[in-house]
Amino acid sequence: MNQNIKKLTAIATNSKRLIIGLMSGTSLDGLDIALCSISGCGVSTSLELLHFETIPYPDMVKEKIRAVFAQKHVEMEKLCLLHPYIALMHARYVNDCLARWQLERSSVDLIASHGQTVYHAPESLHHLKGSGNATLQLGDGDHLAMATGIITVSDFRQKHIAAGGEGAPLAVYGDYLLFSKRGADRILLNIGGISNFTFLPGSQNPKEIWCTDTGPGNTLMDAFVQQHYPGTYFDRDAALAGRGRINDELLAALQDHEFFRLSFTKTTGPELFNLHYLEAAIRRTTVQDVPAEDIMATLNAFTAWCITTGIRACMGNRPGIPVYCSGGGMHNPLLMKQISDQLPGYTLLSTVELGILPDAKEAICFAVLANECVCGDPAVFRQGPAGMPAVTMGKISFPF
Ligand SMILES: Nc1ncnc2c1ncn2[C@@H]1O[C@H](COP(=O)(O)OP(=O)(O)OP(=O)(O)O)[C@@H](O)[C@H]1O
Ligand SMILES: [Mg+2]
Repeated sequence: MNQNIKKLTAIATNSKRLIIGLMSGTSLDGLDIALCSISGCGVSTSLELLHFETIPYPDMVKEKIRAVFAQKHVEMEKLCLLHPYIALMHARYVNDCLARWQLERSSVDLIASHGQTVYHAPESLHHLKGSGNATLQLGDGDHLAMATGIITVSDFRQKHIAAGGEGAPLAVYGDYLLFSKRGADRILLNIGGISNFTFLPGSQNPKEIWCTDTGPGNTLMDAFVQQHYPGTYFDRDAALAGRGRINDELLAALQDHEFFRLSFTKTTGPELFNLHYLEAAIRRTTVQDVPAEDIMATLNAFTAWCITTGIRACMGNRPGIPVYCSGGGMHNPLLMKQISDQLPGYTLLSTVELGILPDAKEAICFAVLANECVCGDPAVFRQGPAGMPAVTMGKISFPF
């Protein structure tokens, strides 16, 4: 037997696994690294977060990724070179973390690598006949495995698409296995570059699960700040938006787009929600020379509107239902206040209440998917909704 397969078999049959979850979302802020101890699998999964760090991307890396990110036309050579480059950079970050955490690489069973999304193209975006849903994440798993010496599970989204999904949101799988509780209806809201939410029914009937993107999370606010305030990457604590006034005409123009008329569930990305989207909305208004702070206030309000109309459209009136928030957007106090105001009857909480660090949740969900890949049974998702096909996701790369 190949020694790699032998090792993988041992990992799969152990009662516990140490798995490093890696997540770098569309905000391009950095790499989230979550070291998880996971025992069991499926609905018996139990997880303990042992270490968590976000390693910020240096400006030079952000620029390299931006050169191809969410763009229809790119230089192929740049795209091609980034695939190993991102993998080796992520491997370096992992090796550095292991040194800081004083852990031998041999004690880690698996790396679960999401990769860096560079393009997300559901049919609803490209409208090209004969082409289905597609998505592309860079950061090759073989390079990661060889440079860390750790078996790596990567590229989770392709199987989801191959099975009829849009390749997103995948957090629903981890949400279901980690947070579903009998008798407790729950919403898990993640506000990353894009926002999405999962509804977990207290009935625990997988058929009633919802998971959808709602539109932009931080992406439009970040893009505008980066353009108008060079050297600033996001509106820390909504300092800019908090000084501005919402422009109602611009807000209405932002809300008037085909994406919001599509039925749920749906996915999206910065391929749609970008500065062109904002410029097109401004062109449809009579407003001129809106101060930057007013635009920020309006984008903040628009983001809250996308999230809350999405949740209300799917969930209706559910008095007292808790919404457990995660992702960088929950650190934006103005955004959170507006979400809270626009969801009367819902109770806004953080995943801390469920024992999970909110900034680590997405990386943790991929560690859970890798755990399912090696020792789970996709049948556990068989009764799930259309956006949650019952398949094993992830490609396995061996270190030698
Ligand atoms: N104190 C803060 N005030 C305002 N916004 C913040 C604050 N802290 C973080 N953010 C926002 O959170 C963003 C990062 O969020 P996060 O890392 O969850 O997104 P992501 O990398 O796109 O992840 P994913 O797509 O996996 O959800 C930043 O770009 C910024 O917009
Ligand atoms: Mg991030």
